[in-house]
Amino acid sequence: MTDPAPIRFHKEEGRDLAGEKGNLVVFADAAGKLTPGAQAVDRLTGGALGRAVADPDFKAKPGTTRTLRYPSGVAAGAVILATLGKDPDRAAARKTGGAIARALVKGDVTLATAGVADDALVAELAHALVLRLYDFRDYKTAQEENGPESTPPGKRKVHLLAADPRAARRAQARFAALAEGVFFTRDLVNEPANRLTTDAFAKRLEALGKLGVEVEVLGEAELEKLGARALLAVGQGSDSESRIVVMRWDGGRKKDAPLALIGKGVVFDTGGISMKPASGMEEMTMDMGGAGVVSGVMRVLALRKAKANVVGVVGLVENMPDARAQRPGDIVRSMKGDTIEVINTDAEGRMVLADLLWYAQERFKPAAMVDLATLTGAMVIALGHHRAGFFATDDAFAAEYAAAAEATGDEIWRMPLGKPYAEQIKSRLADIKNTGGRSAGAITAAEFLHRFVRDGVPWIHIDIAGVTLNSNGTDLAPKGASGWGVAALDELVRAKLEG
Ligand code: BES
Ligand code: MN
Ligand code: ZN
Repeated sequence: MTDPAPIRFHKEEGRDLAGEKGNLVVFADAAGKLTPGAQAVDRLTGGALGRAVADPDFKAKPGTTRTLRYPSGVAAGAVILATLGKDPDRAAARKTGGAIARALVKGDVTLATAGVADDALVAELAHALVLRLYDFRDYKTAQEENGPESTPPGKRKVHLLAADPRAARRAQARFAALAEGVFFTRDLVNEPANRLTTDAFAKRLEALGKLGVEVEVLGEAELEKLGARALLAVGQGSDSESRIVVMRWDGGRKKDAPLALIGKGVVFDTGGISMKPASGMEEMTMDMGGAGVVSGVMRVLALRKAKANVVGVVGLVENMPDARAQRPGDIVRSMKGDTIEVINTDAEGRMVLADLLWYAQERFKPAAMVDLATLTGAMVIALGHHRAGFFATDDAFAAEYAAAAEATGDEIWRMPLGKPYAEQIKSRLADIKNTGGRSAGAITAAEFLHRFVRDGVPWIHIDIAGVTLNSNGTDLAPKGASGWGVAALDELVRAKLEG
């Protein structure tokens, strides 16, 4: 388990900045003017920061930093000068926090934030810094002795110095729960499939019970009784039992129907009998990314005691080739009753989601549904790794989600649904088939799911295949699991259900 760095709040006035150890972070504004804390450090270091901002190379943009190593006059190993740029917004704050995280040397971090920006922006900056410090090292047997990695994220303290530390702490509160949820998601996604089996995943979710989430794990016998044959067919070649896990957070009024969050949780996707090529297959440990996001959101909602009713439903299965595995050509009956012709056993996510969507509607009569899935390579071809594509049946709900995504920086692009795409998945032998050919692969997958959504239920499908992992590190995450999607859904719950 990876813990976020804890943040402590202190009054900046009267604090001896010369004595801060580790990293001392100070700020300049867009005009290169030093904040009071930066001015104090400038005096202590004999004018080094004044020279830095006077250099024409110094562009005061979000994310610009300058590092002084072992400067004389202060105890810190590094003084980092940062700037939020002109008229900073939430995105600028996140970019700056991420840039500071990347500039850090070993040891604790002190941020002298008095006079930098309002408390909300400073909180978002500190949040981004904490997110960028994530480092999954559960399987590293040797502790790094030097460099920034020598301090695990949970051991590194962040001291936030502010004009009003109590107001700063209040502004940070909303982000503390979010950081824990994002780390929970990232840990799940980074776990290898030999460790994170369907059962190990379910156990981690059962532990959310301690936070007040009602967790229920359905096994294969129960799923068989429910008729979840589409989901079970995907997992029948694996030694790990298939599961549906239901997580309920009932923080709202009794009479309010819940928002349902649905997640694809394929703990490993070999493709099954329609096996994937070897190259890059190891990345398919992330094919439970949708379930990972749903789980992270449930954790956030419980930690911050959200005043909303939300139910998370995830399907945990492993797609393996085996004597018992499903084959191309098989026809299975879904929980809804519709029959599915399996053209390609690698199009397994939609079969899992078909039963999850139906189960969630039958049991919980949700007011709205959002599903997340690493569903198609076609989505990655369409939008790359920069944005996730989403599909929606209801324009108002789509607008609410888009606003939440915009505010939190989870970048998205709306994709179309439509009858001609649904035509592509008509089957000669059954009601539908599980692939619709190469063209519009992400959309035909969405239309497959659409068939399992009842008329009138506002539904959003988010294909996160391209954004669940990142290969170079971003402003908010190091290389690997991104935690993409947790922030926007938390924001959606706030705005739509708690507003
Ligand atoms: N899990 C994959 C999709 C995927 C691809 C996720 C790349 C992340 C990165 C999914 O189960 C899959 O294999 N989809 C197939 C569908 C096809 C057989 C219709 C695909 O996209 O190739
Ligand atoms: Mn697949
Ligand atoms: Zn898959």
